[in-house]
Amino acid sequence: MKIRRFFFIIMNIIAMVLLMSCSKDTDQPDKDPALLLGFSQIGSESAWRIGNTHDIEQAAEKHGVSLMLENANQKQENQIAAIRRFIAYKVDVIAFSPIVEDGWDNVLKEAKMAGIPVILVDRAISTENDDLTSCLIGADFYKEGYMAGEYLIRKANSLNMEQVNIVEITGTTNSTPMRQRQAGFMDAIAGDPRMKVTESIDGDFLKSRGAENMRHLLEKYGGDIDVVFSHNDEMTLGALPEIEKAGFMPGKDMIIISIDGGQEAIDVLKEGKINCVVECTPKLGNLLMETALKLKAGESVQSLIHPEEQVFSDEQDTSKIAPRDY
Ligand code: AHR
Repeated sequence: MKIRRFFFIIMNIIAMVLLMSCSKDTDQPDKDPALLLGFSQIGSESAWRIGNTHDIEQAAEKHGVSLMLENANQKQENQIAAIRRFIAYKVDVIAFSPIVEDGWDNVLKEAKMAGIPVILVDRAISTENDDLTSCLIGADFYKEGYMAGEYLIRKANSLNMEQVNIVEITGTTNSTPMRQRQAGFMDAIAGDPRMKVTESIDGDFLKSRGAENMRHLLEKYGGDIDVVFSHNDEMTLGALPEIEKAGFMPGKDMIIISIDGGQEAIDVLKEGKINCVVECTPKLGNLLMETALKLKAGESVQSLIHPEEQVFSDEQDTSKIAPRDY
């Protein structure tokens, strides 16, 4: 009896030791990651950007990628300094979301000299040296602007509008989404003689600037504004209270068109204060990790990767829009 008990205790001790050694392995940081990725994020200017950072962190964990993440706080010079640190650290792959399109050639030439592939995430750069980056993973901003313009034409038709005065609050001047959303929107409405863009003003993708610009536009044009086309949800959410303070009902007295599709804007769309939100998904993390792993393995990658996107508007039953997670 005593021997059986002794044997039972020993077996239990062995099982516990085995269990502890297994859980220790999974808790420990990966000493040999699949890849060391340096990523320079623009900043935290919007719910979109915060969702994008979070998605990239989650995807890195899922793919066993060790991520060096740097937040540039809206400054190009911080992004350039971060890329230089990644080069010095000899990361396997560098990725970054360029705040503006110009001014990257020198630092990217340094990355090329060091033999480190570079992935553009979300936004593009302007350069004559096409071989400085491996690919771009990001939304089709031109299509987003175009879909916003197409919605406006349908809405103007449904309201029998004879003239449509539009004010545009743009994203950061010289950034890819600003340029391409504007170009797509203008092209979509170009053939419709009722459409007139009265003023375009830079809101830098910030809520505070959306509010400030809307105040300025209301002081200047008041009730002559038929449409506010805002390049992101953050600026739209800043503009709406200003429209209400000036005595107008957004979504009724003025048509409000936004881009991104974060939860807060979708909730306001459901309330009827926004008429249309074109989706821009921040969920680029998995595509980024898969592409970076291919580059490390020396495989070829697609030069341009666009995620699928949709339009949410008062043309549909908005109560059926599934919860957004950004
Ligand atoms: O580059 C994508 C844009 O940047 C998003 O529309 C905006 O919200 C973000 O700040």
